[in-house]
Amino acid sequence: MAGVTDRPFRQLCRRFGAALVVSEMVTADQRLWHTRKSSLRRDHAGEPAPISVQIAGTDPRQMADTARRDVDHGAQIIDINMGCPAKKVCNRAAGSALLRDEPLVAAILAAVVAAVDVPVTLKIRTGWSPEARNGVRIARIAEDCGIRALAVHGRTRACAFRGEAEYHTIRAIKQAVSIPVIANGDIDSPAKAARVLRDTGADAVMLGRGAQGRPWIFEQINQYLETGMVPEEPADEAVREILLEHLRELHAFYGEYMGVRIARKHMGWSLQQRAGGEAFRREFNGLECPAAQLAAVAGFFREVGVAV
Ligand SMILES: Cc1cc2nc3c(=O)[nH]c(=O)nc-3n(C[C@H](O)[C@H](O)[C@H](O)COP(=O)(O)O)c2cc1C
Repeated sequence: MAGVTDRPFRQLCRRFGAALVVSEMVTADQRLWHTRKSSLRRDHAGEPAPISVQIAGTDPRQMADTARRDVDHGAQIIDINMGCPAKKVCNRAAGSALLRDEPLVAAILAAVVAAVDVPVTLKIRTGWSPEARNGVRIARIAEDCGIRALAVHGRTRACAFRGEAEYHTIRAIKQAVSIPVIANGDIDSPAKAARVLRDTGADAVMLGRGAQGRPWIFEQINQYLETGMVPEEPADEAVREILLEHLRELHAFYGEYMGVRIARKHMGWSLQQRAGGEAFRREFNGLECPAAQLAAVAGFFREVGVAV
């Protein structure tokens, strides 16, 4: 997820049992790669395998070239994004806008699969619009082109993030292909993960927003799927340690100026649901240095009675 699944967050998710994490989307337009933002997006130092790098673009040759470079740079899986509805992407007809053009989908997938010797996976929505839910056809094209796994967000491109994700199209896709299908959309609890797995027959589930601010949800889901026991929320002491560690990692990864800014949204997600969380968020967003942020998070937990 652009702006979310940076290296520090991916590492946290893996530590809490996510089997696979995917990089923030990297554009296939290599003219944009010289920016600091792009180079941080391509930084996978110290990450556990498999390193999956997501690419987006519309030109088969350019996508193939990008995939090759990413593999040379350490990617062990290439993931192609045809699921993003963002204007910035769709105006250039990349992301989910591509789902409208099935021959171009096939050309991109075939070119990328032929270009690299690592598995290529694909992320899609259920179709272009509710009237043109062509997810099953796209899935068959993907399988024919050699795509090794398919993640499906249960909304169409036209739906953006409105309404609720629907899972029957994901079920139809699962039944139509023999490659692994990963169900995605609105999964925010262990029980929901279990229900979506059951209702779709999918091989795995993928979480986006449900993991923001609470990477431990992967451990909870794994535990629930393995034992059927409803997991407890982590103790405040444990959450405090996770957040302090996350903060330190963000400061180290991005440097002081950017790290402090990126940390604001992550700490906001983690603490906003707690008593006093909203007031904390407002105050925290005004802090300008790493030490003040660390002290503020420690102070938040001290106030709710967690000993230092
Ligand atoms: C802020 C944000 C950024 C996202 N960036 C990407 C992206 O770069 N690539 C992608 O495939 N999906 C991206 N998505 C979509 C998510 O991967 C996911 O499909 C969607 O949020 C639905 O799943 P969820 O309900 O678990 O969040 C993004 C979503 C959000 C909210």
